[in-house]
Amino acid sequence: MGAGHPRREDRTAGLSLPHRFDAGVGNGTIGLLRVDGASMPTPSKIRVWDLPTRIFHWLLVACVVGAFVTIKVGGLWTEYHMLFGYAVLGLILFRIVWGFVGSSHARFFRFVRGPGAILAYLKGTMPRTPGHNPLGALSVLAMILLLGCQAVTGLFANDDIFTEGPLASRVGKELSDRLTGLHKLDEWPILILLGLHVAAIIWYRLAKKQKLTSAMVTGDAPASEFGPETDSARDTAGTRLLALVIAAIVAAVVYGIVSLRPAGF
Ligand code: HEM
Ligand code: HEM
Repeated sequence: MGAGHPRREDRTAGLSLPHRFDAGVGNGTIGLLRVDGASMPTPSKIRVWDLPTRIFHWLLVACVVGAFVTIKVGGLWTEYHMLFGYAVLGLILFRIVWGFVGSSHARFFRFVRGPGAILAYLKGTMPRTPGHNPLGALSVLAMILLLGCQAVTGLFANDDIFTEGPLASRVGKELSDRLTGLHKLDEWPILILLGLHVAAIIWYRLAKKQKLTSAMVTGDAPASEFGPETDSARDTAGTRLLALVIAAIVAAVVYGIVSLRPAGF
C-alpha cells in the first residue's frame, strides 16, 4: 500500500507527459505539457517527499534539538529531555514502518542501494533520481540507527541523582549504568553525523544548486532536475490516513513502554 502509481505517459501529436501527474491531495504539482522541440517548455514539479515524511523530518529536528538543549540545561529540564526522547523514539519507530509502507521515495528498498550504485553515483555516471542518493541513504540509515539507539538506551539510563528512564530500575543499577554510558557515548557520533548532514545540504545548495531543503518543506522539486523516467511520490488522502493510523499505533506503543515505569517513580 502507498506505493507510487505506475508512471503515466501520454503521447499525442508531439505532446508528451513525461512526469507523473497526480501526486494527489495538496500536491501543488500541475502536470504540464512539454511540447517536443517547441518553445513552451513549462516548468513542472514532481512530488519528492510525501507529507508524512516531511512532518516526520521537521518534528525529528525539533525533538532532537529539544533533547540536546534540555539535557544541557539540566535540573528540572531533564524531565523535558525524557519527553523529547520519547517523541524521538516514536518518530524513529514511525519512520521504520514508513520505510516499508510509505510512498515510493520514502521506502528503504528504493533508496538503500549496493556498493555498485554508490560507486556509480560517486563517478557521476548515475542519472539523478528523486529522494536520497545512494550515498546520502547511508547517512539516513546511520541517523535512524544512532538516534534509535539513543532513545532506547535513554529508557534505561539514570543520572545517579533523581532522574532515570522508565525501564532503568527494571534492569538493575549495573546494567542501567552501562546503558547510561552508551547513551553518553552516542552523543558525539550523533553530533558529527548531524554536522555532516547539514554540511551536505549546504554543499548541494552551493556547489550543485540543488534546493534539497525546499523539497523537504514543500514536498516538490522541479521535474527538469531529473531524467524523464522519474515518478512522483504518492501523497494522497489515503496515504496520509495510513500514516495517521501508524502514528497512533506507535504513540500507543511508546505510551505502553513509558507506563512500565514502576509505581512511585
Ligand atoms: C537535528 C537535526 C536533523 C536531523 C535529526 C535530521 C534528520 C534527517 C533524516 C533522518 C533524514 C532522512 C529523511 C527521511 O528519509 O525520512 C533527513 C533528510 C533531510 N534533511 Fe535533515 N535532519 C536534521 C536537520 C536538518 C536541517 C537543519 C536541514 C535543512 C536546513 C535538513 C534538511 C534535510 C533535507 C533536505 C533532507 C533530504 C535530503 C535528500 O534530499 O536526500 N535537515 N534529515
Ligand atoms: C534520541 C533522543 C535522546 C538524545 C539525543 C539524548 C541525548 C542525551 C545526552 C547527549 C546526554 C548526556 C548529557 C551530558 O552528559 O551532558 C543524555 C543524558 C541523559 N539522558 Fe538522554 N537523550 C535522548 C533520549 C533519552 C530518553 C528517551 C531518556 C529517558 C527516558 C533519556 C534519559 C537521559 C538521562 C537520565 C540522562 C542523564 C545521564 C547522566 O547525567 O548520567 N534520554 N541524553
